[in-house]
Amino acid sequence: MTGRFISLEGGEGTGKSTQAKALASTLESKGIKVHLTREPGGTPGAEVIRSLLLTGQEDKWNMRTEALLFAAARAEHCQSLIKPALERGEWIISDRFIDSSRAYQSVSGQLNDEDIMALHKVGSGGLMPDRTFILDLPEDVAARRADARDRGDSDRIGGRDSDYHRSVMAKFRGYADDEPNRVKLIDAAQSPEDVTANLLQNLTDLLD
Ligand code: TMP
Repeated sequence: MTGRFISLEGGEGTGKSTQAKALASTLESKGIKVHLTREPGGTPGAEVIRSLLLTGQEDKWNMRTEALLFAAARAEHCQSLIKPALERGEWIISDRFIDSSRAYQSVSGQLNDEDIMALHKVGSGGLMPDRTFILDLPEDVAARRADARDRGDSDRIGGRDSDYHRSVMAKFRGYADDEPNRVKLIDAAQSPEDVTANLLQNLTDLLD
């Protein structure tokens, strides 16, 4: 049996964490060994880097440092959890992965996609998911859901302005256009059950 690597991506408030959990339990009910994990984080060391990244003032890190810290957390995550699990034939479902760095850390224009992928190659050997789902919601709906969840206490990156988040979402949609086999754009405005069913439909080729 082959291990499979699934990532869920999208802006704030699009329901990634809920869907990651639902997908993991559905796959487990089919007898698949699944590791549900997240980025930044997923291992003790990477969770320490997560708190460095997500707490404090918005300008605490410059964009290069921020990108390097995300790559460092990911290196730890890949080395300690993701690669060993895949080698054992187990599945990984990660709430965010490299496409978040490509989208969020390149928006300012200081770093381009090549730079982010170069960091990923050094940190994690360029490991890519087998399938990536971008959960897509209209901007106003996503903003309302994120506000309801965070109650004015969003993290250092989630709290950036709406122009930033709009540009991030445009980047994500571009990845679905560029890599249609790996990256699927999913309408997250449907009911949670329908979104999960849609994710499963888009995994049938990996379940064979
Ligand atoms: P979360 O709230 O979905 O757990 O994600 C944490 C924040 O970190 C979110 O605002 C997106 C951001 N992020 C990046 O900017 N780059 C990355 O590579 C990752 C994984 C997350």
